[in-house]
Amino acid sequence: MPENVEIIQNKPLGGDYYRLTVSSQSLSRATPGQFAHLLVQSQQEPPTWDPLLRRPLSIYDLEGDKASFLYRTVGRGTKILARAKPGEKLDLLGPLGRGFQLGAAPTLLIGGGVGAAPMLFLAHTLHERGQEFAVLLGARSAQELAHAGDFAKYTSAVFLVTDDGSLGRQGIVTDFVPEIIAQFSAIPKLCACGPMPMLAALAALAAKEKLALDVSLEARMACGVGACLACTCFLRDGNTARVCADGPVFPYEVLDWRG
Ligand SMILES: Cc1cc2nc3c(=O)[nH]c(=O)nc-3n(C[C@H](O)[C@H](O)[C@H](O)COP(=O)(O)OP(=O)(O)OC[C@H]3O[C@@H](n4cnc5c(N)ncnc54)[C@H](O)[C@@H]3O)c2cc1C
Ligand code: FES
Repeated sequence: MPENVEIIQNKPLGGDYYRLTVSSQSLSRATPGQFAHLLVQSQQEPPTWDPLLRRPLSIYDLEGDKASFLYRTVGRGTKILARAKPGEKLDLLGPLGRGFQLGAAPTLLIGGGVGAAPMLFLAHTLHERGQEFAVLLGARSAQELAHAGDFAKYTSAVFLVTDDGSLGRQGIVTDFVPEIIAQFSAIPKLCACGPMPMLAALAALAAKEKLALDVSLEARMACGVGACLACTCFLRDGNTARVCADGPVFPYEVLDWRG
């Protein structure tokens, strides 16, 4: 059932990034890696149904009934969302999808760009469970890592990498995974979200080094609940899966990386 939630904060972070906080009963039962499907219609009279389709956003963090989202403005829907003000209402559906499988293993959380979004909630949960974990965040430049400070609440093991070297070390996240893994007490499981080339490079590394890797995929979505097949991805066994309902998190080895 959709919920009409109140916006508490919608804060520009720098670059195209924003953090949105809402008060939501339904999202208070979310687990890390799940997402909400938001209606982002502009507030105008008479009310409009445009854009018609909801936009999926990962749950960035959860404190009681306060859920937050980290989002980047890329098109019409997210630009409308960036204009939303505290006190306004937003229609959302969630929590949706299957998130990260939590085990006892140490974990390396890897977020590329706005792929950091599902990682803060995962860090929060691993911190509460007292598990060993570290966070590796990459972006094009420092301007796109304004959210990195949020992770300090849950761990001091945060490694930053930028393409231009303007914050942290210069390079791409996959350059640094082996040396960070070596700092763990035991080989960690990798949990990653970010651009497809980054996920594919991590999948190749995981296959070569026999690492466990869960990836959170993005796909264009319509219904968000498994009914329309708009978000299909291909599996290694020749079948397909729905990113919205069977994912967005999948063990890398079930996915077909050849496409
Ligand atoms: C499960 C899931 C979780 C997501 N979580 C987040 C998040 O936490 N923060 C965040 O900023 N974004 C997230 N996204 C991506 C986000 O949903 C899209 O950026 C958003 O829907 C774009 O809407 P728009 O109207 O602004 O852009 P549109 O006008 O629809 O598109 C503008 C541009 O964005 C690209 N785009 C649109 N939808 C997607 C998509 N789903 N994935 C990748 N590129 C897309 C288009 O190809 C186009 O180039 C998530 C996507 C999924 C599937
Ligand atoms: S968006 Fe409809 S099945 Fe996934």
